[in-house]
Amino acid sequence: MSKQLLISVAELKQKKRFTTWLGRDEVMALMTPDGVRVYSAMCPHQGGPLGEGVIKDNQITCPWHGCSYELTQGDCTDIGTCRNVSGMKLQTLKFTVENDANVYVDLPEPAP
Ligand code: FES
Repeated sequence: MSKQLLISVAELKQKKRFTTWLGRDEVMALMTPDGVRVYSAMCPHQGGPLGEGVIKDNQITCPWHGCSYELTQGDCTDIGTCRNVSGMKLQTLKFTVENDANVYVDLPEPAP
């Protein structure tokens, strides 16, 4: 695992959402009513850019086909215009908040 600083808690509280590339992974940190969450920014449907999705009522909607995911657990709540999909969920990334100040994400080491 590779631990990397993602964002300060103060900045995330201000922005509510922060998306960045860490190596080959696009990562999305969110400040939700239940605290910090860190997910892959790729939609589990077909890899759409969730970092560009609309956030409303603690849900994010993918701009490609309209799938919505609630932000606390990452469960799909609406399949939008998609067909024959079920059980989709945002990919949760392991993270830590140290001293209530900074959010770090743990990424797997890249394959050699
Ligand atoms: S890629 Fe996100 S809804 Fe299809």
